Amino acid sequence: MCMPKRFLKFPENFLWGSATASHQIEGDCKNNDWSHEVFNRYKDQLPWMRQALEKIPDVGTSCDSFNRYKEDFDLIEKMNNNSHRLSIEWARIEPKEDEFDDQAIKHYRNVLEDLKRRNIKVMLSLHHFTSPAWFILKKGWEKSSNNKYFLRYVKYVVENLGDLVDFWLTINEPDAYVFCGYFHGWWPPMQKNKLKGLIVFRNLAKAHKRAYVLIHQICNDKFNNKPEVGFANSLQAYSSYIKHRLSNQLKQYFYYKVSNHGFYLLSGKRYHDFLGVNYYFQVRLNRKYSKLFSIQEDPSVEGRRMTDMNWLVHPHGIYEVLVDLSTYKKPIYVTENGIATEDDSFRKQFIHEHLEEIYYAIKAGVDVRGYFYWSLLDNYEWAEGYRPKFGLVAVDFDTKQRQMKESGEYYANIAKKNGLEL
Ligand code: BGC
Repeated sequence: MCMPKRFLKFPENFLWGSATASHQIEGDCKNNDWSHEVFNRYKDQLPWMRQALEKIPDVGTSCDSFNRYKEDFDLIEKMNNNSHRLSIEWARIEPKEDEFDDQAIKHYRNVLEDLKRRNIKVMLSLHHFTSPAWFILKKGWEKSSNNKYFLRYVKYVVENLGDLVDFWLTINEPDAYVFCGYFHGWWPPMQKNKLKGLIVFRNLAKAHKRAYVLIHQICNDKFNNKPEVGFANSLQAYSSYIKHRLSNQLKQYFYYKVSNHGFYLLSGKRYHDFLGVNYYFQVRLNRKYSKLFSIQEDPSVEGRRMTDMNWLVHPHGIYEVLVDLSTYKKPIYVTENGIATEDDSFRKQFIHEHLEEIYYAIKAGVDVRGYFYWSLLDNYEWAEGYRPKFGLVAVDFDTKQRQMKESGEYYANIAKKNGLEL
């Protein structure tokens, strides 16, 4: 039977974009806590850096976007995107404590001005997992008294770039930072100390709150503008196999509340102009209540669709988290959603299915105002190195040549039509 074609039209002025992060694409980020140069420099002072030298792949020159950002922005334009999410590198801007590099901030001004000339709205992250080495030597986020260093950097950046940014993201995925860096020790600072992790989480929430106030203050006083300020939260769709047992439901509630809502609760609802949603997968909680901290069962045994990160593809989950967040009554931007795969038709399907669910969430009354695919380019995927391919654009890491994938063309068409054909 032939079904009539449907067109799912997104709201007027919906933002279509893609997202990147400085350390993952710029290349030669040398002074931060993911840099091999730094690991070698300080491995005697900080023993975890020895471990990092073995476990963390060297970022090298990556996509060289520090020099090739214009090529990247040409691609964004080709994709009919009206917005872009990117981050700036604290360790470039303040390579030594209290020494700000004029050239670095000038570089980022050029980058943002280039986006503005192209009429592209700018969403800028101030902290996307990486911090300067000098900050880490002072114990980084583990000490709340160190928040003042972050705020000094925020002040400098906002004073210099505040006229060019539409949306500020203070911190990217605080819970992932804590989970990977402090609960499991997969990422710098390679710790397995839950208590320390919780302290870091609290300090990040405090830092967010103060940065929120500071950004608004400077933008108001110096530029007379009112940007939107938030952070990018990583949200999962949690699911419990056993539905009829209260213990299992409580476990699901606990994880959902702490991981998806914890940062809002700690930082306070009014310090968010919008909610940034990074959504990738569903977590199937372990059936045994006794295994409270062994979170996941492996859904791949069921033969389900998995990504090259071994994440479970579950498009309906984005609908669930969006509807759940609507109780905050704030605008929502999907600040990241994407798939690591070598199979580009799988990527198209992934984008299609997630956008369809976002459309239904909008119809259900959720105020979703934008979508940023992760990521524009194939890039450095943290502890996984260059293996996972998230990009709409392929990059030859030797020649730095960019090549738009079919999924990029597909996304360009969605952005152009402001909707999806079913
Ligand atoms: C992060 C990105 C990362 C992506 C895919 C998000 O958690 O913000 O930096 O590359 O997920 O893993």
